[in-house]
Amino acid sequence: MPKRFFATNLRGSASQRRSVADNFVGLSVEAYKNVRSVYVAIKLFTLTCRTVRFNMLRIMVATERIVKSKTPELISRERREVRKLSTLLEIGRILADASNLKTAFAATLETVGRHHGMVRSFVMLLDRESEKIRIEATYGLNQDSAHRVTYRVGEGVIGRVVQTGKPVVVPQTSREPLLLNRLRGLEEHVTRKEISFICVPIVIGGTAAGVIGADLIYKAERDYDRTTKFLSVIAALMAQALKVKEGIELDKKRLVDENIHLKQELRERYDFSHIIGNSNPMRLVYEQVTQVARTNTTVLLRGESGTGKEMIAHAIHYNSLRASKPFVKISCAALPNTLIESELFGYEKGAFTGAQSRKKGRFELADGGTLFLDEIGDLDLTTQVKLLRVLQEREFEKLGGVETVKVNVRLIVATNKDLEEAIKLAQFREDLFYRLNVFTIFIPPLRERKPDILLLAEHFVEKFEREHSKRIKRISTPAIDMLTSYHWPGNVRELENVIERAVLICESSVIHGHHLPPSLQTAEGSDTITRLSLASALEAYERDLIQDALKTSRGNRAKAAKLLDSTERIIGYKVKKYRIKCDRFRT
Ligand SMILES: Nc1ncnc2c1ncn2[C@@H]1O[C@H](COP(=O)(O)OP(=O)(O)O)[C@@H](O)[C@H]1O
Ligand SMILES: [Mg+2]
Repeated sequence: MPKRFFATNLRGSASQRRSVADNFVGLSVEAYKNVRSVYVAIKLFTLTCRTVRFNMLRIMVATERIVKSKTPELISRERREVRKLSTLLEIGRILADASNLKTAFAATLETVGRHHGMVRSFVMLLDRESEKIRIEATYGLNQDSAHRVTYRVGEGVIGRVVQTGKPVVVPQTSREPLLLNRLRGLEEHVTRKEISFICVPIVIGGTAAGVIGADLIYKAERDYDRTTKFLSVIAALMAQALKVKEGIELDKKRLVDENIHLKQELRERYDFSHIIGNSNPMRLVYEQVTQVARTNTTVLLRGESGTGKEMIAHAIHYNSLRASKPFVKISCAALPNTLIESELFGYEKGAFTGAQSRKKGRFELADGGTLFLDEIGDLDLTTQVKLLRVLQEREFEKLGGVETVKVNVRLIVATNKDLEEAIKLAQFREDLFYRLNVFTIFIPPLRERKPDILLLAEHFVEKFEREHSKRIKRISTPAIDMLTSYHWPGNVRELENVIERAVLICESSVIHGHHLPPSLQTAEGSDTITRLSLASALEAYERDLIQDALKTSRGNRAKAAKLLDSTERIIGYKVKKYRIKCDRFRT
C-alpha cells in the first residue's frame, strides 16, 4: 500500500475516512485497528528521534562551549598535577635507594629542575657543630664554588628560613633587599629574565635542619602557593631520608666508639702500667716481657698460683704485633681430658656422639693472635703428643676430620707445677717440655717481693673502693705491718681478696688491722693461728688504735694519749707491751 495514500487518507475528514474505508472494502475492522497502531508507533518513534536529536545537539553545543572556553588551562593544570605526582614518586624512589645522600639530593634537584622548570636549586644543611648552613647539593650552579658559600642562622632569607622553620617566597628577586644572594655569579646559565626565589625548610623533629632553595622564571600568573607546597613535600621526603641516615650513623658511631673504648680498656688493663710492682724481681720480669713480646717465640710462664702469670700473658699479647688479633685462653685444669682435645682442635660433624655440627677449636679461633694455655702441667699425655705436633708443624687435624688445618698462632703457656719433677714421674713429656721451654719467665712469689705488697694493697684499695662505692683514705700502719709480714701463700690473688674483704667490712675511712682476716692477725703473720681469741682480738684492736694515734701525733706519746682520751702513763705502758717503735712515726 502506497504510504502517501495511507497517510493522507487517514488524516482526512470523517467523510473522507469513510471513503477510505470504502477503498478498503473487504478489510476487516480488526485489520484496520492493526494498521492504526502501527501508524501510532511510527509517529511516536519520529517524535522521540526528534527530541533525542535535539538533546544531542544541546550536549554538543555545551561541550563545544566547554571545549572552546576552558580546555587549555584545565588540561595543562591536570597535566602539571600528574607530572608533580610522578616526580614525587621518582624522588621517593631516589631517596629510598640512596646510599649516599649528597648524590641522592643532587639527583632529586635535577629531577625537579628538569620537569618543573626550576632554573637553579640547592639543598643547604645546618652543621650543628659550627652553626653554619652549608651547601649539600646543587642544580644549575657551579658545584665547587657553591660549596664555599655559607650562611649563619638568621642571616638573609636562607638563614631566616632555618631560624623560623617557615618557607619564604620572593616573587621578584630584583626587588627584595633582604636577599643576600651569595650564590649569584655561580649560575651555569645566566638569564636576563626576572627570577622568583622560593625557599622551604627541611624540618626534622620540629626544627629546621636545612633548606631547599629554588630559582624560577618570574610569571605574574604563577601559583606560588602551590609551588611552595610542592617543594615542601620534597623537603619532607628529604627530611625523612636525613633522619634515617642520622639514626643509622648514630648507631654506627656508638658501636665504633664502644669498640674503640673496649679495645683501649683491654689494652690499658694489660699494658705494663697496670701491672703493679717495682721490686727488683718484677723489674726483671718486665724486662723479659719487653724482650719477648714482639717476637713469635713460645713463652713459658712459671710461678706459684696467683702470682700474676695470666696478667703477664695478656701483657705479652697486647705488647706484641698481634695485639689487634684475638687472645684466646684455655685452662687445661678446668676441662676434663676427654674435652680438652676437642676444645683445642675442634671437631667435624659426627666426630662423636653429640657432635651435631662442626666446631672450631681454640687454635683456629686464635689464628693470627695468641693462644694462652694455662696450667699446662695438667695436660694429659695423649694431648701432649698432639700439642707437640702442632708446635713442630703448625698444623693439625680436627677430631673426626682428615683435612689438615694450618694456623698462625703464638703460644704462651703457664704452670705452677714443677715440670722437671713431672718429667721424672713420666707425667710430662720431655720433648714437649723442651719445645715449651724456649723462653721462660719466672714470676716470683709475693713474699719474695715485699716492697710490692704495699703498692699492690693500695692499688686494690682504690679498685674496690670504686667498685663498692666506699671512701677509704688509707691503710693504718699496724695493718700495713700485718700485710707485709704475712707470707702470702696465695700470692697477689690472696692479697686482692684480703683487701676486698677489708674494704667491704670497713666502717670508717681507714683500714685497720682488725679488718684483716684472722690468718694475718698474729704478730708475725704466721699461718699457725687460724682462730682468734677475744683477748687477742682486743689487743690487736688496741694496738691499732695506739699506732694510729702515734702516727697522727708524729710519735708524740702525750699528744697520742690526748687523742685517745687516755694518759701518757697508760700509753707508755701499752707501747712497751706491744713493742711499738715510736721512732718510726717521727718524720
Ligand atoms: N702485678 C700485679 N699487679 C696487679 N694485679 C695483679 C698483679 N699480679 C697479679 N694480679 C692480680 O692477681 C690476680 C691473680 O693473677 P693471675 O694472673 O690470675 O695469677 P696466676 O695466673 O699466676 O694464677 C688477678 O686478679 C690479677 O689481676
Ligand atoms: Mg692463673
